[in-house]
Amino acid sequence: MNIGIIIYSHTGNTLSVGEKIMEALLDKGHSVRLEQISAENDDPQVKGPIRLTMIPDPSPYDAVIFGGPVAGAQLSPFMKEYLTRLPALRDKKAACFVTQHFKLKWMGSTRAVKQITRAVTQRGAPVIASGIVQWSSEAREEQIQKVVDSLSRI
Ligand SMILES: Cc1cc2nc3c(=O)[nH]c(=O)nc-3n(C[C@H](O)[C@H](O)[C@H](O)COP(=O)(O)O)c2cc1C
Repeated sequence: MNIGIIIYSHTGNTLSVGEKIMEALLDKGHSVRLEQISAENDDPQVKGPIRLTMIPDPSPYDAVIFGGPVAGAQLSPFMKEYLTRLPALRDKKAACFVTQHFKLKWMGSTRAVKQITRAVTQRGAPVIASGIVQWSSEAREEQIQKVVDSLSRI
């Protein structure tokens, strides 16, 4: 399968998980490309409009995995902006994951997964797997492995 991993990552946590998912998918024989979303002003405290400079196109892929961080107890505004620009995703498989600092899902990750899921589902692709990594958790490595295992089964 031709799989795209589309990531927004400010400090590299989400990117590092995306790279592990990519390795696992490559090991399974898939064709995989990891693409990053970027913005003109990458300041996470950004006020005002976000201007994206890299807007990865999911159209070429059979399956797309979206990953982004939590910011302010919800999905990062950069990832939210990207999701507003998503084209139709009919006939594609989709999955998503988020990373957050805190160990409590109500501190943003549950909401962030829902936000990605809603946007992707509205474009016609059901989200068949999702995952959360809590960076400050002692169980972080196990969480990463769980996300890699689950999302590489897409
Ligand atoms: C502006 C800002 C707001 C954040 N808000 C939250 C939050 O509400 N809850 C949380 O668990 N982590 C929060 N974090 C931490 C990030 O979600 C976490 O470090 C994430 O793994 C960063 O991913 P990245 O390295 O891919 O950018 C925040 C980080 C930033 C910079």
